[in-house]
Amino acid sequence: MATNVNAEALKEAPIPEAIEKQAAHKQTVDPYNVQGEVGEDGVVKAIDYNKLVEEFGTKKIDQALLDRLERVTGKKPHRFLRRSIVFSHRDLELILDRYEKGEPFFLYTGRGPSSDSVHVGHTIPFEFTKWLQDTFDVPLVIMMTDDEKYLFSDKRTIEEVEGYCNNNAKDIISVGFDPNKTFIFSDFQFMGGAFYKNVVRLSKHITLNQARAIFGFNDSTNIGRIHFGSIQGASSWASSFPHIFGEDESKSVAIPCLIPCAIDQDPYFRMTRDVSARLKYKNTNISYAKPALIHSRFLDALQGPGTKMSASIDESAIFMRDTPNQIKNKINKYAFSGGKVSVEEHREKGGDTSVDVAYQYLRFFLEDDEELEKIRVAYESGDMLTGELKAICIKELQTYVAAFQERRAKVDDEAVKLFMATRPLKWNGNPRAPIVVPQVQSADGEAAAEGGDGKLTKNQLKKLEKQKQIEAKKAQKAKEKEEKDKAAA
Ligand code: TRP
Repeated sequence: MATNVNAEALKEAPIPEAIEKQAAHKQTVDPYNVQGEVGEDGVVKAIDYNKLVEEFGTKKIDQALLDRLERVTGKKPHRFLRRSIVFSHRDLELILDRYEKGEPFFLYTGRGPSSDSVHVGHTIPFEFTKWLQDTFDVPLVIMMTDDEKYLFSDKRTIEEVEGYCNNNAKDIISVGFDPNKTFIFSDFQFMGGAFYKNVVRLSKHITLNQARAIFGFNDSTNIGRIHFGSIQGASSWASSFPHIFGEDESKSVAIPCLIPCAIDQDPYFRMTRDVSARLKYKNTNISYAKPALIHSRFLDALQGPGTKMSASIDESAIFMRDTPNQIKNKINKYAFSGGKVSVEEHREKGGDTSVDVAYQYLRFFLEDDEELEKIRVAYESGDMLTGELKAICIKELQTYVAAFQERRAKVDDEAVKLFMATRPLKWNGNPRAPIVVPQVQSADGEAAAEGGDGKLTKNQLKKLEKQKQIEAKKAQKAKEKEEKDKAAA
């Protein structure tokens, strides 16, 4: 199963070297190392994502699937999907089947709190996750792997990662998740109970041989690292979250998740899917639901294709704390250009958008498809110069980062407490499908109740109807007030 895993890389990806010239080696993508192929000339090549789909055995997201997604959700696919930034999946069709039928599923993603320096590349999977949450209206769990970031670093202390965890949670909240539907948890804090039972279940079904083959561990790897996969994997199972999906495991084990993640995280879930298929609830025939996945590619470092932004190298990335001026300077100074050496040559031959970092960033951040296409044509024909392209990119990134900073300024410790509280969540699922959403009763009796198979009891239906009426009344009142205020102004 292993891709060309480099065991040395387990000592934390040495990204700085990826930017410099180095000895020839194959493309490497696993949870601990992401590097494009290096040729005999020592030049790093762009990551070949098609090859990853083949090696990992995932499926490419094609136009037919995007069309179906649009039909089923009634929403235009996110620009990451339209532009193959989110490019691969496992079992997304099954999730769409469930959504169509109103059957429950949830979203699961995570972040390793390795530093306080969150960059634009980190926000990509979260931006996309938010879109999925808004689109499907389902619960989302976000794992903060403070344990992982301690185990996989020679330097970091537990206290350090705890601090990063709190700050990173604020960054994640700033992406705009709905507190009613989102549970953020730290492994250190949440470990225990149903979650730990699942961790142990998963670990019991993975041998050392398998872990070595999947992750490239060797005899000197500390055993915490070897075990960690069972922690990241166990959150794929709804029964790890009884406060959200109920105590009745005979029902919750059958609820699958959809995991939006960068492609390097796939090995963890390949392993979890394999175990899910073999694992049965107690002595019944009920299988553990296999996690479905939807994979994104990386945002290149400013230095260009074949590298990814690194939190520890200031010149490699645009950070979410950068000022407009810093953004401008970094793009102008470091962004790898696909333009020609002289203006004359550029006008004549045009630029190469496939390697041009400013253009590539626009593919990630510029919403308007038509405008993006105009830019591509202008740059490739030589009508647009590198400086002009960079100016557009600078403006987009400044807007993106400023909007984030504005939201970030409003997130305080109270918000973190709210998102991280072990509590029931509230969601509605597909508005056009029969209501079959299992919800757990909260202490104040607000959310709907049990019924993990999704069937609502008469009481629940009544409650839901009442809730709808209350919301409609509220909306009406708000509207009336708005009109009054307008009239008064
Ligand atoms: N290991 C991931 C990281 O280092 C964090 C993570 C945990 C995660 N669970 C996940 C990422 C699920 C994506 C999906 O960032």
